[in-house]
Formats: sequence, C-alpha cells, structure tokens
Amino acid sequence: MYNSNFKIKSDPVILGLESSCDETAAAVIRGRTLLSSKIISSATEQAKYGGVVPEIASRAHTEAVDEVVSLALSEAGVTLKEIDAVAVTYGAGLLGALLVGLSFAKSLAYTLNVPLIAVNHIRGHMAAAYLVDKDLKPPFITLLASGGHTAILHTKTFTEFEILGGTSDDAAGEAFDKVARVLGLSYPGGVNVERLAKEGENSVPLPKCQVKNTQTLQFSYSGLKTAVINYCHNKEQKGEKVDRENVACSFQHAAVDPLVKKTVESAVALNVNTVTAGGGVIANGYLRARLEEECTKAGLKLILPEKKYCTDNAAMIAAEGLIQYLSGNFAPMDINARAQIPLK
Ligand code: KG4
Ligand code: ZN
Repeated sequence: MYNSNFKIKSDPVILGLESSCDETAAAVIRGRTLLSSKIISSATEQAKYGGVVPEIASRAHTEAVDEVVSLALSEAGVTLKEIDAVAVTYGAGLLGALLVGLSFAKSLAYTLNVPLIAVNHIRGHMAAAYLVDKDLKPPFITLLASGGHTAILHTKTFTEFEILGGTSDDAAGEAFDKVARVLGLSYPGGVNVERLAKEGENSVPLPKCQVKNTQTLQFSYSGLKTAVINYCHNKEQKGEKVDRENVACSFQHAAVDPLVKKTVESAVALNVNTVTAGGGVIANGYLRARLEEECTKAGLKLILPEKKYCTDNAAMIAAEGLIQYLSGNFAPMDINARAQIPLK
C-alpha cells in the first residue's frame, strides 16, 4: 500500500523525468548537486515532418523511457533503492507524450514507496538556475523564453512568484520557429536561425518585439513575424534575392534586445540584484551575450544555466521537484497529465 506520510530529508536523491515534447529525459540530483542528466530525442525523426508529430513522440517516449532512466541512474551511481522521490512533468505538453513519463513515474514511486512530485514544465525551466548556483535563493528576476512562453518573473520565495510581463501573442521561441520556416530552415527552427544570423548583419529594418509606446513589460511578436514575412515576399515579388542571413540577424536583434533590456530594467527598478533565465530561447548565443553584457553594466549577478539545461531536460524537473519536495508538496497517485497549465 502506498504510504503518503513521507519523512522529508534535507539532501534527497531525486529522479527527474521529462516527456512533454520530443525529448525523453531522466536526471538524478542529490540536494542541489546534479549527478546525471540523459536525453533520448526523437528530433531527427520529427525533422522529416517539419515539426513534432504527437503520435511519433509518444511512441518514441514509450521506447526510450526505460533506457533513459537506466542510463541516468548508472551515470549517477545511484540504485533504485536510493531514490527518495520521483519528480515528473505532468504538463504542459503533448498529452500522449506526458502520459508516458507520468505513468512511468507513478509506477516507480508506488513500487519504491517514495513521494511522487508533479512538476509544471515551465516551473522546471525557472528552476534550472538552482543547479547552477547552489546558494541561489529568492528574490531574483527571471527571463523565461521558450516555445510556449515569454515572461519576466519576480521570484519572491522558493514557492511564490509574480509575473511582471509577458507576450500578448506569440512566444519568443514560436516566433523563431515561424521565421525559420519563412527562411526555409529545417526543424528545430530557433537554433538554425541563430546559425544563419551569425553570417549576417543587423541591416533589415524590423519592428522590435515590443508593444509600441508603452512603458509596460508587454511584448508582442506577431508584428515582427509579419514584418519578416512581408519583407521576404516583397523581395520575391520584385524578383530580388532574399538576404536570408541579414534577415535572420536583424530578426534576432529585434526579438532579443527588448527582452534583455526589460529584464535588466525590472531588476534595477525592483532593487533585486540577481537575474536568472530559462527556456529553450535562452540557449541562443546572442541573447546570452547580451544578457551578460547588460547585467554586468547594471552591476547585477547573472545565473545562466548551460545551454543544454535551457532546452528541455530532466535536470530542471528534478530541481523544481526538490523545491516541491522540501515544501512537502506531493502529488496524489490519481493525478492526470494536462495539455495546458497557466503559468500561474
Ligand atoms: O524550452 P523549450 O526547449 O521547449 C518548450 O518548453 O517550449 O523551447 C523550445 C523553443 C523552440 O521554439 C526553439 O526554436 C527555441 O526554443 N530555441 C531557440 C534556440 N534553441 C532553442 N531559439 C533561439 N535560439 C536558439 N539557439
Ligand atoms: Zn521546455
């Protein structure tokens, strides 16, 4: 019988599991020390279809989940019996994909009689920074930029945060992916736009990803995306060659600069001296360089997870699992996966 009166340890061994999209990932942490992080991805297969096909993702997770957990445990040098909790993404994401990880985590937690911790994927991205700096504690400002979210957040305590600003339409990653398609780049789009941008110059006039004439922290990517599409179509209609490298580079500036500026301004205005970041777009080299530059100028401490912990991974799920574990927030065994969960 599954016992839910668990004793809380200060340095627990947590197995994290992530299967919300096309990455099957497992990671092990002890306290805030990362012991292993493994990913089996179906991205190459998905690329043939130009994006993630949910059924292919679910099948790939089913085939990979057992192996990825074994790999993570063996690299960590941890046996199943040493696991103190299992943390798993329960949303947001592709329902069938999530169910693979969630069902696996439930069976494991039940069999080992350890707590099951249900993690919101986005909270996982926000928690990645905790593994970078073991002394990191709130308050801090986070720039969150992924395929589905773009926001500036003020984390006040380990479990409470405020949304300072966000996007009115597309997320930053979504915009990168759409622009990639316009430029004829293959999936996954963001990293390919970054590669092309390195060969170009910021010479195409494009609107920034900001709501015009406002002092708010509100972003908007639809105008920028449309401007890129119109620019390319106009060139094509005139029979001119599209300077793809320059478009990629100019788009990257327009999509990134306001995010960095507003993040730093928020930290200064709120007198918070630490900035963190998370989500796939934070793997962008230009964004990382700009954040470093602006935080240094403003005298802010920047905690930036390595690129591989910005894109989807299970280390961040284990990290958020630790926060939930320490506050005794355990999930019931009948918890279901959720395709959508509001940020707050
Ligand atoms: O966090 P993530 O891996 O998945 C979600 O939770 O959405 O983010 C994926 C997004 C995609 O839109 C992808 O194009 C973007 O992050 N991305 C990048 C880069 N690497 C991933 N965007 C810009 N530059 C990159 N290097
Ligand atoms: Zn993600």
